[in-house]
Amino acid sequence: MSGIKYFPQDLSLENKTIILRVDLNVPIREKKIQDFTRISLILPFLEELIKKKSKIIIISHLGRPKGLRDATLSLLPVYKHLKEKLSTNMYFYTGEINDELNSKCSYLKNSEVLLIENIRFFREETDNEENFSKKIGKLGDIYINDAFSCSHRKQASIHGITKFVKAAYAGPLLKKEIIAINSVVKNKKEPLTCIIGGSKISTKITVISNLIKSASNIIIVGAMANNFLKYNNCEIGKSLKEDNSSEIIKKIMHEAEKNKCKIIIPEDCAVSKSFEGNATPKDLKSIEKDDVILDVGPKTLKTIEKIIDSSNTVMWNGPAGYFENKNFAVGTNFIAQKISENTNKKSLISVIGGGDTVSAINKSGLNLSFTHLSTAGGAFLEYLEGKDLPGLSVLK
Ligand code: 3PG
Repeated sequence: MSGIKYFPQDLSLENKTIILRVDLNVPIREKKIQDFTRISLILPFLEELIKKKSKIIIISHLGRPKGLRDATLSLLPVYKHLKEKLSTNMYFYTGEINDELNSKCSYLKNSEVLLIENIRFFREETDNEENFSKKIGKLGDIYINDAFSCSHRKQASIHGITKFVKAAYAGPLLKKEIIAINSVVKNKKEPLTCIIGGSKISTKITVISNLIKSASNIIIVGAMANNFLKYNNCEIGKSLKEDNSSEIIKKIMHEAEKNKCKIIIPEDCAVSKSFEGNATPKDLKSIEKDDVILDVGPKTLKTIEKIIDSSNTVMWNGPAGYFENKNFAVGTNFIAQKISENTNKKSLISVIGGGDTVSAINKSGLNLSFTHLSTAGGAFLEYLEGKDLPGLSVLK
């Protein structure tokens, strides 16, 4: 996407208040951050803004609290971590978006940082509500969107806000993502294979339908594959499954046939009776009513290996299994290693995206390299589809 206004490096920022939208949507369990990638990535730019003596207001979401305050989705652990990392005074604002916040912002001194609590605690954020957008827009002088991963959302702090600020720019991380993805798209070589994992097929239906038009193979893994297995009348026990997915799958299969794109689904799997359990490899025919499918099996991995070997470009989004338990990280780690190996040895063009995929790769502890590793999930896929992302259109 061309014409985006990037943040000018030489802009004088002293005494200016910056509203910085970043993606601090990191995995948190029992108040502990599980993966720091997204936080580490924003630090250099934050330090730059601090050095340039601006006042910084950080906005981010965490999870999908649907406009309600949910303590498990508080940015407090992120605030504590950032406070430790940054060489300045940092504050956390947990109140309403009102005059109190205005006055807190106006009292900020140069180089100080204020983080607003999860912006999705306000329903108006996801509704892209005009008055709310105005209120957050009025908090500062310059708006910077450095959250490529959220730019597919038409929400107040990404989209609506830009109408109410004096200047709106894309930040350096967003710029880096776009340049890298554009270069891959421009240089991609056929055959193209897409590996799509994760749990919700309904959120990826348009993406899959569009990828079918340019890909030779689409490999479905993760909990999403359970819907395809069920569609093929396979027993899937107590595995995650989405209601009413059969119409979606029917459409995908039809589109795939029309476009001569192969859809590959698991041939075997690893199951357990619980998410915390050990892995038992099983053929599809042997899955029991109380089994939970938590990873792909060895036969599936052999097939995936062959397909990766025959591909010149691979795009991957979404883990192959419940990688949070290392017993079920086997499929994800295998795929990551294979793609990395072929990127190094066979000049495979590889683009990997998604918060969970990045977490899984970090957690694996493996030394891997890809053509581009994006922290964005949905935005990355929609951008690849060639869609006009609402958060980027408003920065033109
Ligand atoms: C992501 O993790 O992809 C981004 O933070 C966007 O989150 P969302 O899908 O909840 O909008």
